[in-house]
Amino acid sequence: MAESGRSAEPILKLRGVSKQFGAVQALADIELDIHAGEVVALVGDNGAGKSTLVKVLAGVHQPTAGTVEFMGKAVTLDSPGRALEMGIATVFQDLSLCENLDVVSNLFLGHELSPWRLDEVQMEVRAWTLLRELAARIPSVREPVASLSGGQRQTVAIARSLLLDPKIIMLDEPTAALGVAQTAEVLNLIERVRDRGLGVILISHNMEDVRAVADRIVVLRLGRNNGVFTADSSNAELVSAITGATENAVSRRQARKLEETGA
Ligand SMILES: Nc1ncnc2c1ncn2[C@@H]1O[C@H](COP(=O)(O)OP(=O)(O)OP(=O)(O)O)[C@@H](O)[C@H]1O
Ligand SMILES: [Mg+2]
Repeated sequence: MAESGRSAEPILKLRGVSKQFGAVQALADIELDIHAGEVVALVGDNGAGKSTLVKVLAGVHQPTAGTVEFMGKAVTLDSPGRALEMGIATVFQDLSLCENLDVVSNLFLGHELSPWRLDEVQMEVRAWTLLRELAARIPSVREPVASLSGGQRQTVAIARSLLLDPKIIMLDEPTAALGVAQTAEVLNLIERVRDRGLGVILISHNMEDVRAVADRIVVLRLGRNNGVFTADSSNAELVSAITGATENAVSRRQARKLEETGA
């Protein structure tokens, strides 16, 4: 369905976002637009700045320069609570689920501050409804998380974020530890989340997964934007943007030319 449900105006707009850790420039001058109803994959080599960018948007790190606009207004994401409250949810790689608690308890864990006060039955109904909407393959919401597969855990973590009704959801390597069938389940779920009208930011090293669900593929390299691609872009194009092979080839060519001209 690709871009058919995408909003005209971006919900999230980053301009010139930079983040410095001492002498390390983790992000430099990042531009990024995220629309409602699209999946944007964020790819790049190790150390490219993906996690730092996610942490900036999750309110964990403050940018050293640049602006973030959310729903048309400049915002300061100065704490994780603030980002969540605003509608930017993050599913970090460790998922933070409680193994010994069941699915319902995990879904509602940490939502104690929410305005709704639900009793056990209401929570269970809410959990079932949401999981059904997501076509999640979870046999029972009373199942302890410890007995769920990796894909089901990822589903629970994503569903938990959705309970806060976010506009943006960021997923950090959601398929990294999964086999083929469970990966397909999670990719399906990502499409359903997109179809609910959310903007999804997907971090992944797996180009096959990225191609399967992303409407756009944003490449970061050494903390900078290094091109925007689509699922139709060739592997060679993507790989050279990620690794900088083209730049190296260019500089090698330049070096040869200089040698040839004796400069
Ligand atoms: N808290 C920190 N303090 C100092 N340097 C940091 C910190 N966090 C990240 N960096 C540095 O910032 C750069 C970007 O790191 P980041 O973790 O964002 O990359 P990444 O794209 O997520 O990489 P990976 O694919 O390995 O997870 C790296 O050089 C990293 O060492
Ligand atoms: Mg990372």
